[in-house]
Amino acid sequence: MAWKKYRFGTQFYDALSGECIVYRAGRVAGIELMGLQAGDTVVDLGCGTGLSFELLVAAVGPTGQVIGVDASPQMLQVAAKRAVRNGWSNVRVLQADATHISAADLAVDGIPTPIDAVFSAYALSVMGSHPAVLERATTLLKPGGRVGIVDMQRPVGAAKSFTPLARLACRMGGADIEAHPWKWLTARAENVMQTSRRGGHIQAVTGILK
Ligand SMILES: C[S@@+](CC[C@H](N)C(=O)[O-])C[C@H]1O[C@@H](n2cnc3c(N)ncnc32)[C@H](O)[C@@H]1O
Repeated sequence: MAWKKYRFGTQFYDALSGECIVYRAGRVAGIELMGLQAGDTVVDLGCGTGLSFELLVAAVGPTGQVIGVDASPQMLQVAAKRAVRNGWSNVRVLQADATHISAADLAVDGIPTPIDAVFSAYALSVMGSHPAVLERATTLLKPGGRVGIVDMQRPVGAAKSFTPLARLACRMGGADIEAHPWKWLTARAENVMQTSRRGGHIQAVTGILK
């Protein structure tokens, strides 16, 4: 269980994750690319400590909703505190394994929650079986729903010299730098858009599922 790595030291995750200097750029690019609309409901799959919440809340506005899903209760605790601290009443968190999640898990008092988009940042490469997770994610979406993936690969071109650093960052987080989970999406989606940051190390891809 990859998420079990995320049980300890979660209060230090934000400081140690290289967020400011490296990884926020991908988050920003991926969420921009998704083109979320005011009022949308978006699931943040493998939300961790909720580092994407601020950008997602800004994108869906006060009438939209953000549902952070993670298997680690300790990561979710930090995420929930973040939401309360910032007064984001339209954010809720849910402990669930993304490999088995279903629409029933997202329902409130038995009432289904229609999902406009599923977003995942730096989590699918940790999950091991990302195709199975993405197949499940599509069952949560409304027809024509959007998927956005931000994840990592080896840097390319002039940035290749940073490969050892990129590998180290991935190894520390339990991510497989060769997983390339966005390729699942590019093979299945329409209106695919892709951009990269940090010498190609970060790939952001979005598309609408057929
Ligand atoms: C590297 S962190 C990324 C967190 C966050 N998305 C971010 O951008 O900082 C990976 C997260 O995926 C979660 N995770 C790993 N396997 C999972 C699974 N099967 N189901 C749900 N969450 C999982 C971990 O608990 C962890 O919080």
